[in-house]
Amino acid sequence: MNANQERSLPWRLEDIPFDRIDPSLVRHRDDLFYLVTASSFVEILSDLTTRNLVTYYAGDAEVGGWLSSHWEHEEVQHGNALREYVLRVWPEFDWDSTYARFFAEYSQICTVDELEPTRCLEMAARCVVEMGTATYYRALAEFAPEPVLRELALRIKDDEIRHYKHFYRFFTVYRERESLGRWRVFGALMRRLAAVRSDDAEIALWHAFESRHPGARRDTGEFRSMFSQVSRLVRRHFPADMAIKMLVKPLDLHPIVSSALIPPLSQVTERWILR
Ligand SMILES: [Fe+2]
Ligand SMILES: [Fe+2]
Repeated sequence: MNANQERSLPWRLEDIPFDRIDPSLVRHRDDLFYLVTASSFVEILSDLTTRNLVTYYAGDAEVGGWLSSHWEHEEVQHGNALREYVLRVWPEFDWDSTYARFFAEYSQICTVDELEPTRCLEMAARCVVEMGTATYYRALAEFAPEPVLRELALRIKDDEIRHYKHFYRFFTVYRERESLGRWRVFGALMRRLAAVRSDDAEIALWHAFESRHPGARRDTGEFRSMFSQVSRLVRRHFPADMAIKMLVKPLDLHPIVSSALIPPLSQVTERWILR
């Protein structure tokens, strides 16, 4: 990151009062260890996602410029801040080698081939990803028992909402160019929603779990029960209305239709994302 890029960050690691963390409020919480560690893994991996997206949007200087000069650095900063939090509270955890195992697995499935078939549809899918992170960090800020973690989650949530707005604006530009119907957009939103639920979080949680339980099985037993436990925790605080508003926005529905859809869709989304 050069000096200009560093200046353009909305906040920096030095702004987070890591010295004021009270480990006694959080150190005994295994669920938070797994959630915060898994989040740090996925966020730091954003450099790989950025490379894929920059390749996919080659020739679009505005999108490429924003992705590599702003978005990537902000996402990686989320990861670095969460990593620092983990290491302050659980200093015995070997973050680097656990991340290396996560990276070895996740980088195999995070490729350009995984992207949507058109640039407009991929922008719609990126809106789903940012919706997922914005709502997750809002939930984390609500259930975090420790003030510094709460502050960090709120800062990240604000960044994710801003990212959503950028991707949404790029989406509207490509929608004009590609003149795709609502059903094509709907399909992209649903596909990415299904992927948000299953991929990143589970792989990241698994590697965090395995580092503490060598020899554990991924498909049964303790890992599955930890996975259900953290899912229940997030679900209890999940801002479903916020998720639905962000999810249906790219469909450009009449405001009356959107507001009629919000209550039933909220329940479905809440259950679907965090089964
Ligand atoms: Fe992020
Ligand atoms: Fe983001």
